[in-house]
Amino acid sequence: MCGIVGYIGSRDAKEILLHGLEKLEYRGYDSAGIFVINEENNGHLFKEKGRIAALRSKVDNAVEANAGIGHTRWATHGEPSVRNAHPHQSADGRFTIVHNGVIENYQEVKDAYLEHVDLVSETDTEIIVQLIAWFAETEDLDTVSAFKKAIVALEGSYAIALVDNTDPEVVYAAKNKSPLLLGKGDGFNVICSDAMAMIKETNQFVELMDKEIAVVTREELIIENFSGERIERQSYTAELDSNDLEKGTYPYYMLKEIDEQPAVMRRLVLKYQDEDDNLTIDPEIVSAMTKSDRIYIIAAGTSYHAGLVGKELIEEMTNIPTEVHISSEFGYHTPLLSENPFFIFISQSGETADSRQVLVKMNEMNYPSLTITNVAGSTLSRESTYTLLLHAGPEIAVASTKAYTAQIAVLAILSEVVGSEKGLIKEPNMIQDLGIVANAMQSLVDEKDTIESLASDYLSITRNAFYIGRGMDYHVALEAALKLKEISYIQTEGFAAGELKHGTIALIEKGTPVIALVTEKSVAGHTRGNLQETKARGAHTMVISMDGLDRPDDHIVIPKVNPILSPLVSVIPTQLLSYYCSLHRGNDVDKPRNLAKSVTVE
Ligand code: G6P
Repeated sequence: MCGIVGYIGSRDAKEILLHGLEKLEYRGYDSAGIFVINEENNGHLFKEKGRIAALRSKVDNAVEANAGIGHTRWATHGEPSVRNAHPHQSADGRFTIVHNGVIENYQEVKDAYLEHVDLVSETDTEIIVQLIAWFAETEDLDTVSAFKKAIVALEGSYAIALVDNTDPEVVYAAKNKSPLLLGKGDGFNVICSDAMAMIKETNQFVELMDKEIAVVTREELIIENFSGERIERQSYTAELDSNDLEKGTYPYYMLKEIDEQPAVMRRLVLKYQDEDDNLTIDPEIVSAMTKSDRIYIIAAGTSYHAGLVGKELIEEMTNIPTEVHISSEFGYHTPLLSENPFFIFISQSGETADSRQVLVKMNEMNYPSLTITNVAGSTLSRESTYTLLLHAGPEIAVASTKAYTAQIAVLAILSEVVGSEKGLIKEPNMIQDLGIVANAMQSLVDEKDTIESLASDYLSITRNAFYIGRGMDYHVALEAALKLKEISYIQTEGFAAGELKHGTIALIEKGTPVIALVTEKSVAGHTRGNLQETKARGAHTMVISMDGLDRPDDHIVIPKVNPILSPLVSVIPTQLLSYYCSLHRGNDVDKPRNLAKSVTVE
């Protein structure tokens, strides 16, 4: 949610910042800006509403500068506009900042210190830069001291990069809760919300921790805490292949990521296999899970939907009762916990603020936790007791696809290893089962033409739509509905097939698309019956069934896989339906309106 970059070196700062922002656009894209400065103290500010491409066309190529900061915004305070776009400057023009996060006490700060200042934007960010200027001027503080004093007065989340016009040899940074990395180069240094932004420049990064300040020059990265003590921290090598960040011949990242899913399944099996070709998980994780009397899965959005499937897998294979919770609800309305809880955080980005606030609280209570994430070194990964990686490669499209299936596959592997350790599974066969899943996925991604024509037939002009199913199919229906609404803007509900008749069926009218998922034998007939009830009321019905449970008129038949893994396969046609529907409607598939991929505010 909002991406920030900074650079100080000897090359063209504009280009490095713009390129970095393009890589961070998944974090928000309603407006963007850069501020660049050269050694002669000439600063230039460029801001534009909309995408980075719009900003790029506004930037004056003739400007020469070798330091600067940049921002791509997901609006929290104030509408998307040039006025509210970052960077923001102090009234005297001396300080310029970019900020990712939310300042919760901005009104109090404004009332206490800044009554005399005419704010030019509606953002909480402007408060920070005006406050720094206020302390620097009224208390005659140097920049670091004024910066520290200002951020001590702030409550909330922030990752900030700051430039002082009077000293263009330094870029300052600080963070609390929101992520921020410092990148080390030869004769230059960088700042970024995510290593992806600067991987072209360097693969050596140092994490900035909460309540630390960084003083970044061409030659040095100095980190200190609020008491002024210097902190030495080793850099790590970011293992990102810059080729993975490009979409190649694909028109959209989402399609590329859908297509990558069979390969991700195969890669996961290899990553979690030992020398004897058995699946393996860190024995400490297995032991912590085995000791627990109840597992709490905490997640948001698509990851929450993966958690719903995960609960079924864990209970089926390990016999440990499992609950799944939406993170933004759990932290402030925590249910009565069991005696020995074990927490599993599922998060593609590892940065979701809603999930992190739960983790912070559970850490305070010393409960063990595992984060399942795609991003090594992410906040949730660092702060939880254990981590399992998704190995899915960077997911760039805002609508999550391969991360969802990788999350389910990791949960399946974990469940089988724990179940085997508990003596509940005598003949483990997850490796074979996931191989069958990978082949089934491949056959579906090869069926794009059929799915594209179903998308035109069913979803081209509709206002609303339904996915229905029972059991695992219900969990997939929720994810399928979320995917369709995220990128097509069609109001879609995922519904428990049997529950529809208890009220929601009132919404069915002539032509309403209702798509049933039928992969579970024990409830297949019931779900088909529920679909018929909608058809009798005019619905335009479609069936996605599994081989063996199919009927001649079914529209998509997925190959047979182990039924507990059916979500990994049945979700694929729903992802493709969403993709083509969005494409046909002329939407930006990868960057749907109002959304961001990494949501670092609560
Ligand atoms: C955002 C994204 C969703 C994602 C959710 C949770 O809302 O748009 O695609 O599922 O955050 O993100 P996480 O990184 O924690 O999985």
